[in-house]
Formats: sequence, C-alpha cells, structure tokens
Amino acid sequence: MGYEDRDGLELEDLPGIGSATAERLRKAGIKTVKDLACIPARELEEISELAEGRAGEAVRNAREAVFPKVMTAREYLEKRKGIQFLTTGTKNLDLLLCGGLEPGITELIGAYGTGKTQICLQLCLTVQLTRNRGGLDGAAFYIDTEDTFKPERLYPIANALGLEGDQILDRVHVFRAINSDHQFEGLRVAQEYVVEKKANLIIVDSLTAHFRAEYSGRENLVTRQQRLNTFIHQLQRISTMHDAIIVVTNQILDVPEVIPGVKPARPAGGNVVAHGCTFRLWLERSKGMTKVSVIDSPKHPRSSTWVMLSEAGVKDSEVPK
Ligand SMILES: Nc1ncnc2c1ncn2[C@@H]1O[C@H](COP(=O)(O)OP(=O)(O)O)[C@@H](O)[C@H]1O
Ligand SMILES: [Mg+2]
Repeated sequence: MGYEDRDGLELEDLPGIGSATAERLRKAGIKTVKDLACIPARELEEISELAEGRAGEAVRNAREAVFPKVMTAREYLEKRKGIQFLTTGTKNLDLLLCGGLEPGITELIGAYGTGKTQICLQLCLTVQLTRNRGGLDGAAFYIDTEDTFKPERLYPIANALGLEGDQILDRVHVFRAINSDHQFEGLRVAQEYVVEKKANLIIVDSLTAHFRAEYSGRENLVTRQQRLNTFIHQLQRISTMHDAIIVVTNQILDVPEVIPGVKPARPAGGNVVAHGCTFRLWLERSKGMTKVSVIDSPKHPRSSTWVMLSEAGVKDSEVPK
C-alpha cells in the first residue's frame, strides 16, 4: 500500500533539515520526503555523507510525516478500495487476477515461447487506456534484458485494443540492460520516470537472466542470490512508494526426473524470488494455447485459465479439447 501523498511537503519542512542538508540530499538522489522516508538509514549515510545519528533521525522524521504508524484493518480496506486495477486486455486473465493487476510485483514464470514477453508488451498498451476502460491513463517503463522488446509488435496490439495515435509509442520507455549492473541502473532511471512521466507500470523482462549468466556455478550462488535480493527489494520499495505495478518475467529450470518420463520444472531464483514476488503466475504451452495458473498469491485462489498468442496480442481462449 502506498504512502500518504502529502503534496507540497518539501525536505526543508522536516525538523532538523536546513537548506544545505536538503541540497546535499537532492544531489544524492533523495528529492522528495517520500524518497527519504523509504531509504534505509545505512544507505543514506553512505550516499549523503550525513553523520551517523543524523541520517537515522532524518529518515525517521520523513517516515512520520508521510506514513501512518498503524492502521486498523477497516482503514486499510478503505484505502485498498481506492486501488486502480490494470486490465491485461483479456477477460480470462483479468478474472484469474480478480480484476486485473495491482500494485506489487507480479511474476510471469514459464519456458521460452509461453507468452511472457507478449503479455508484457500488451500491458505497455493497456496501461495507456483510460481508467473507465481498465487502464491507468499512464505509461510504461520496460527494462529489456534479452533484447526481445520489439516495438513493431505494439502497433497491431494497440489497434486491437482500440488505441490510436503516434503518441502510443512515446508512452513506452525502453531501457536495454546489457548486464546486471546496468539492470540496477535501469531501476534507478525507472524511478525517475514513475515520478516524471507517469510510468506507473514497470516491466523487467527478464528479472533473473543476467544474474544467472553472470554468477553461474555453486561458488557464486550466495553472491548471486544476495544481488537478486537487493534488486527485488528495490523493486518493492518503488512499488510501495509510488503504488507502481511491477511485472517481472522469470525462466524455469529443469529439475532431474524423479518419476521417469515426467519432467518437473521450477522457477529460477529460488526462495529469494519466491518470497519477493507477491503474485506468481505459471505459463505453459499446450495444444497451441497458453495455460496460465496462479501458483502463489496472498489473495488469489489457485486456479488456471487459457489464452492464445496472436498477431493482435494475447487473447482469450477456450479450454482446449
Ligand atoms: N506477430 C505475431 N503473430 C502471432 N503470434 C506471435 C507473433 N509474435 C509472437 N507471437 C507468438 O508469441 C510467441 C513468443 O512469445 P513470447 O512472449 O516472446 O515468449 P516468452 O515466454 O519466451 O517471452 C511465439 O512463439 C508466437 O506464438
Ligand atoms: Mg521473452
């Protein structure tokens, strides 16, 4: 759930922060009271050169200014009623998700060709729909790690959704991340775009590929998982601060067969990804269609639906015979 929006509250309005400190914070990338409220004090100490106690105090004051200490469940429910869901552009997936995507991290897990990227491309367009059509009247920020973002795909999908005009492509901001360091940089830029360009949808396609390629082998496993964990935490922070919808894709790993002939599979990234992503969807190809199942969610029942991939995007499909 997002933080209180206290428009007009500046860093200088907080106790103990004068114009020199505010300037130092802004230089370090902490531009708003919300930014300050969400950064861990230890991180702030490193980037702002504030003295030890002062960083902690600044963060505490910011948090108190924008974040209610405790809410009753009723107050929380009232707040959640204000959430805008994002349509996927298919009835089946919207029903599976009880109304569409919501702020938090949604993970699309599947083998290659199951439709993860096609769903992401479609979301870059549904986010631009007006609110009465299930969109957010917003923009998308796409971190592309595998060079699979193809802008040409947007035209036919936009047409099918009834979106017209050249500005459609201008509302999709693409960051091609060439390695995991660069992927972190993409997230830093994404945060600016959330604030400045209404990019309320952030896509990371794929979340895990660079980390897996760069930290292969058992000896690198701990470092890889730590880095992945940091990345996911930063995603969570952005989502919480700005009520942003985050969609990440993830590969699957083949697991050695326990039952001969049955090939089990599991998502990459282990517990770090499993704990970090709020809504986990599993995609499988079968009979030319894609089956999408909720495998983990704090609010959705475990169920499945079917979609098909077409020139015009992701469409509803009947259960194949
Ligand atoms: N122009 C198109 N027309 C019809 N189907 C397409 C088109 N482009 C992609 N697809 C479908 O999408 C599949 C690729 O899905 P994609 O989302 O890229 O998979 P991944 O899960 O690996 O990201 C293709 O195999 C094809 O079925
Ligand atoms: Mg893909």
